[in-house]
Amino acid sequence: MILEALLLLAMTGGPDDPPDISIIPRPVSVSAATGDFLLTPLTVIWTDSASQGLGRQLSDYLRPATGYPFDVRVGPPTGSAIVLERDSSLRQLGPEGYRLAVQDNRVTITAPEDAGIFYGLQSLRQLLPPAIFRSAPVMGVAWIAPAVLIEDYPRFAWRGAHLDVCRHFMPKEFVKKYIDLLALQKLNSFHWHLTEDQGWRIEIKRYPRLTQVGAWRKQTLVGRATEDQSRWVFDGQPHGGFYTQDDIREIVAYARDRYINIVPEIEMPGHSQAAIAAYPELGVTGDTVDVWTSWGVTATIMNVEESTITFMQNVLSEVMELFPGPFIHIGGDEALKRQWQTNARVQQRMRELHIKDEDALQSWFIHRMDTFLNAHGRRLVGWDEILQGGLAPNATVMSWRGVSGGITAARAGHDVVMAPGSHTYLDHYQSRDRSSEPLAIGGFTPLDTVYAFDPMPPTLEPEFRKHILGAQAQVWTEYIKDPKQVEYMAFPRMIALAEALWTPVDRKNFPDFLVRLRPELERLGILDVNYRPLDRPLP
Ligand code: ACM
Repeated sequence: MILEALLLLAMTGGPDDPPDISIIPRPVSVSAATGDFLLTPLTVIWTDSASQGLGRQLSDYLRPATGYPFDVRVGPPTGSAIVLERDSSLRQLGPEGYRLAVQDNRVTITAPEDAGIFYGLQSLRQLLPPAIFRSAPVMGVAWIAPAVLIEDYPRFAWRGAHLDVCRHFMPKEFVKKYIDLLALQKLNSFHWHLTEDQGWRIEIKRYPRLTQVGAWRKQTLVGRATEDQSRWVFDGQPHGGFYTQDDIREIVAYARDRYINIVPEIEMPGHSQAAIAAYPELGVTGDTVDVWTSWGVTATIMNVEESTITFMQNVLSEVMELFPGPFIHIGGDEALKRQWQTNARVQQRMRELHIKDEDALQSWFIHRMDTFLNAHGRRLVGWDEILQGGLAPNATVMSWRGVSGGITAARAGHDVVMAPGSHTYLDHYQSRDRSSEPLAIGGFTPLDTVYAFDPMPPTLEPEFRKHILGAQAQVWTEYIKDPKQVEYMAFPRMIALAEALWTPVDRKNFPDFLVRLRPELERLGILDVNYRPLDRPLP
């Protein structure tokens, strides 16, 4: 009997958490306690002096829906209190871990560092009725959080989501909303895909044509880029937009307040036709090209002149001024080598540099950026094609063509972020029945597939596991025209990935996730998120 019970526990991932606890991602440990905590007009947020900013953040979260004042005070708590405190004795929870205790008259969130307190706040919001997410007072709700003791910390340090704002431009206010939604899932990295063949979206003061010319395309292909080009139809509508440097500073600050690091991506040497449209001297042929109006992979690629290296390094200098985080993404994917192979000047340059083939030439290009970024105290990240021709010494690899590139890089001592198309590309279809879904790029990646993803490859030897930093969701926007459709594609799948990144493997359980997802979707509904409903026909 006891053995059977133990077996059942092992199969189901441990005992159920107490009911009413719909925290998502699922915490490491949840124990029931007796009683309830009731928010009242007299509840005060007490903090230590280091946590006052977080106290104000909590007050801002709780005030609108309740209409209560939630004063923030420094000092020993009395009465109905929410207490936020740094506690260095909780070091073992790591830099993002926290402890959350809900008792009769008191909520206490303690953590060794600010990020942990912030995650404690997110969990507390999820313990309260979903109406707490409303932005004006809601009448007739008892603002009760069930008594509970939670200890929690993430499994992976890199918990990311990407957004392509190039194929379709996404307004600044939506980027902020996206960041808020990431923070609610305890994601901590936003990969901002800022440059592409179809549009350059970041103001660079030194090279104004990058946005004057590169941010705008004349029109856009309707539907997919089929083989037969004679049948292509364009919409005749100009499309574009970009973020000024002031816009970017605003978004960086907004993300920092939510413990999210932004990883900007500046694509090179491929996926750069918009830059070449603005500055044809960056290209191989010298021809004038348009900001691309189609989808797919273009033959247009940067040349390998010293002037081009300098140009891109100057761009990166402005990027580094705007983005304080450790990582700068240089793309590196899908750079077709045909123009390099057939151009006499590129071939001559290869001989001058004693470079044996085009893969090695790409590797040389990426090396130059790696050295440059390292000299400025930053780290280069690139898609897994940067393995071709030899990986730059300090590069971090983002493995999108499956996980094998990531495994190879980890074994060579490089850090890795897993981003395989099979599990993390949220531009893929969510149903086998494509006719019931908006046009998407292809694939089939339903919620349970995303949930099942484990960024740690079972075949990776223990000594290399530390190199798997985590994983991230990708949202490419060829067929995603606006924020509402981003939301439809990203949610709820991004929530599934967030749990795969945060929750210990033995606590992952898809049926349990679905139960906790229902109230989360209610919260997202209140936040006006156009998520894909669970009761749409599942595959
Ligand atoms: C990619 O999907 N080309 C990284």
